[in-house]
Amino acid sequence: MKFTASCAKLSGLKTDCLILPTGSKLKNSASLIDKTYKGLIAATIKSGEFTGKSGQVVTINLPENNIKRLILVGTDGIANNRQRNKAINTACAALNKTKAKTALWVGEGLGDNAETVASNVAQSTIASGYSYKKSAKQKKVNLTSVTFWTADQKAKKAKKAIEDGLAFGKAVGLGMNATRQLGNLPANICTPSYLADQALALSEQKLSKATISTDILDRAQMKKLKMDSLLSVAEGSDEPPKLIVINYQGTDAKTKPVALVGKAVTFDSGGISLKPGRGMDEMKYDMCGGASVLGVITALSQLQLPVNVVGIIPATENMPNGRATKPGDVVTSMSGQTIEILNTDAEGRLILCDALTYAAKFKPDTVIDIATLTGAVISALGKVASGMLSNNQQLADDLTNSGTESGDPVWQLPLWEEYDELLKSNFADMANIGGPQAGTITAGCFLARYTKDYQWAHLDIAGTAWVSGSNKGATGRPVPLLMEYLRQKAK
Ligand code: BES
Ligand code: MN
Ligand code: ZN
Repeated sequence: MKFTASCAKLSGLKTDCLILPTGSKLKNSASLIDKTYKGLIAATIKSGEFTGKSGQVVTINLPENNIKRLILVGTDGIANNRQRNKAINTACAALNKTKAKTALWVGEGLGDNAETVASNVAQSTIASGYSYKKSAKQKKVNLTSVTFWTADQKAKKAKKAIEDGLAFGKAVGLGMNATRQLGNLPANICTPSYLADQALALSEQKLSKATISTDILDRAQMKKLKMDSLLSVAEGSDEPPKLIVINYQGTDAKTKPVALVGKAVTFDSGGISLKPGRGMDEMKYDMCGGASVLGVITALSQLQLPVNVVGIIPATENMPNGRATKPGDVVTSMSGQTIEILNTDAEGRLILCDALTYAAKFKPDTVIDIATLTGAVISALGKVASGMLSNNQQLADDLTNSGTESGDPVWQLPLWEEYDELLKSNFADMANIGGPQAGTITAGCFLARYTKDYQWAHLDIAGTAWVSGSNKGATGRPVPLLMEYLRQKAK
């Protein structure tokens, strides 16, 4: 997909499809285009076919050859970046339906920051081109080039900002699609070994301004590091566990890295605390935290942003066999703290705690873990915001802002000692569950006991990483959020 910025005269441009964001009141380019087509847009509004409300999209075939089609995108009532992204996504879906090869976006009506709008258009274009390959035949994408057009008088400066935005959005889109593909793959294909191979493939790319290296730790190496909590989860499965360490270095080695720790349970049956059968297939998505880390590295390798990021991905299945952990078993984590495993289905925190202890080895500036950790976060926040807990308010605020800016929001929950007390055990330093209340927070409190040495945030993406129902599929979240955070960090 080719993205270009243009500030040329609109009258001279040729495209299969012109995309025009506008409200019911025609302004600037919208009124100009309306005049060119003898009041066509005004007539469409008058007829009631298009009201200009956000969420509305109308495709009109045009008689002339320079511009074959016009897609009107409603902008009235757009009040935030989430709504803007929704409008752009709807337009991209309509564009795909037209089978157009080229498209021209009019960079008006969606906000004043052309760089951000261009970025969201590129991201959405790439993301809307993704489809899961069911058999040998892959769905075709017709679109090959998108031009983002603006009438800005300070053309030169505007053009550079738009080009930056397009490149960023394209990279984020590609990162999201990589994450979605890994998420959608079934658990019989996407095993811990498969994820390890994907990480190795990422580090085989030759980049001009960055390096990527991958290290895969196997069971014996993890045993040596005393990661008995992580290994206790893998015990019940015939699939060998992997600890994937992927190091993206985009700036000098002195700069402390951001560590991204991603839960990758490639299938979560619950273990001996077996889950009910209904909907269990969706537990193939329990590796989406790890997949989002690989998605971020994919996007970073496209952009070669000047940041250092180390991805740490504990990958395992959670299965019940004769060697599997039993409720009541006690294990010693790498940190030395002991854990009474009262429920083998609370396995995410058991693999994350050892990965988080291991993360300290990289002397990180910041650690962010990403995990499909609790069903409770879906009750609390639904499928709109990811849950966030943090031991550092500045970091929490930065992530909140990145979420707002990217339209991939997070919502902070309190990490208070009253919740932590619920983890008390009579037989170990802590239990791995805190009872029926505040499940997302007690999971965060558990992790907080392993992250005291650095600034840390936890993202619970159980509600946001995939959608169920007839559109079942991975979303690629929170790649946009994390990339926005890293972009700010690189400035
Ligand atoms: N992977 C699940 C969390 C999950 C559940 C994500 C449903 C998406 C949909 C996690 O490993 C889990 O099973 N958590 C338990 C914890 C409980 C036993 C304390 C849960 O949320 O029910
Ligand atoms: Mn579980
Ligand atoms: Zn799980």
